[in-house]
Amino acid sequence: MDDVVEGRTFNTGLVIVATLLIAKLICSFLIPKSTKRVPPVVKTWPFIGGMVRFLKGPIVMLREEYPKLGSVFTLKLFHKNVTFLIGPEVSAHFFKAPENELSQQEVYQFNVPTFGPSVVFDVDYSVRQEQFRFFTEALRVNKLKGYVEQMVTEAEDYFSKWGSSGEVDLKQELEHLIILTASRCLLGREVREKLLDDVSALFHELDNGMQPISVLFPYLPIPAHRRRDQARKKLAKIFADIIGSRKSSGNSENDMLQCFIDSKYKDGRATTDEEVTGLLIAALFAGQHTSSITSAWTGAHLLCNDKYLSAVLEEQKKLMEKHGDRIDHDVLAEMDVLYRCIKEALRLHPPLIMLLRSANSDFSVSTREGQEFDIPKGHIVATSPAFANRLGFIYKDPERYDPDRFSAGREEDKVAGAFSYISFGGGRHGCLGEPFAYLQIKAIWSHLLRNFEMELVSPFPETDWNAMVVGVKGKVMVRYKRRDLSVN
Ligand code: HEM
Repeated sequence: MDDVVEGRTFNTGLVIVATLLIAKLICSFLIPKSTKRVPPVVKTWPFIGGMVRFLKGPIVMLREEYPKLGSVFTLKLFHKNVTFLIGPEVSAHFFKAPENELSQQEVYQFNVPTFGPSVVFDVDYSVRQEQFRFFTEALRVNKLKGYVEQMVTEAEDYFSKWGSSGEVDLKQELEHLIILTASRCLLGREVREKLLDDVSALFHELDNGMQPISVLFPYLPIPAHRRRDQARKKLAKIFADIIGSRKSSGNSENDMLQCFIDSKYKDGRATTDEEVTGLLIAALFAGQHTSSITSAWTGAHLLCNDKYLSAVLEEQKKLMEKHGDRIDHDVLAEMDVLYRCIKEALRLHPPLIMLLRSANSDFSVSTREGQEFDIPKGHIVATSPAFANRLGFIYKDPERYDPDRFSAGREEDKVAGAFSYISFGGGRHGCLGEPFAYLQIKAIWSHLLRNFEMELVSPFPETDWNAMVVGVKGKVMVRYKRRDLSVN
């Protein structure tokens, strides 16, 4: 009896297996295979593996994975998929895609408590676009010309306090000077002349309130966030008073504050005090550390590189022959060698090492080898100036400081096509402050070159990868001696 039951069970099993096999065969003919070509995934331990790799340093991870996986790959960070697009071919979509396909709002939400309500990532894209138009208008050439006068005055005043010779931490000096310049050009005369210490201390609290943990949990009730929120409130009060007094006195100044006060939305609505404060905070966050870090790297490279130090000095001499001591917007615009030296420092050390978007719809990219990948809706999409700016197929000897790679005849960033040089991002959300940043750094360095002989006395600095805006680690000690750059 048992044998009969066993035989029947065996036969039934065979029939089921055969049916399943036939069904699968029919399906494979009738239903087309999924054509999705998903990016390769970084191999890590389940769940926390991705986070561990990321915390070890995103650039370390990119250096390890790019040679194995190529220019498109996905890292699993807890429940999120982060897909990296490295190099101009695949990152073009990152930079050009419209907001409804790739957006910044979700991934940059952590800025909201710092910038405050009703601005930038706290508003719809249509309002944000209008607010970025206010930035564009505040940074037009006619405005920049006025800011340059203030930049030059600030640099002259600041360095007049240096002795005839001495030793300084150049990094700290440049940080201080850029706070003064940014305060004058962006926050306005009242802050620069009367409230600098108070406002700087409050900005310092905002800075400290932006911890790595804040990116994931911006409202976590920790002391740094509480101090950030209090500082934000105090800044709102200070700016409301300044705006009120400018409006009631009818005084108008040449600064970004004034531009934001005078800005109007398309429907004719004026900006509120809260919005003006928020936009100024955003401007300072975008432009202050980035510029002071770039000034410091430029100095470190120039002082370690006789060829380029001589070249920038020669250029200053020529400009002095032509224009005398005058430094204004147009003279700064003629400083091509200095420009390339800054641009190369920024290629090697972009302060914003990772740019992010959120994919609101599926999209595809083609690699330079002709492979196609589909990136699904819901992925976080990332690209990295710090990694992509050193790709060997774009830049010859990419680790070397070689400003001439940007000169006529080579122009390595242009030869390789758009989005080969991404220290300022590019495309739809490219940096609006790039001209301002170059003018500011050139104004500082042309003054230093003309008035001081300098020597780097500490070792060439390392990178501080732990900072949110990645900068120079430790001090940059410089020995200086006053000089008058002789024209002959
Ligand atoms: C060396 C200095 C600077 C560097 C390296 C830099 C870098 C960048 C980068 C990489 C982006 C693109 C971010 C993204 O795509 O997610 C960006 C955007 C932006 N930057 Fe800068 N920046 C600098 C200076 C400034 C200054 C001085 C200002 C203003 C005073 C400024 C204002 C902005 C604004 C408003 C945006 C947003 C543009 C948009 O989303 O449409 N930046 N910057």
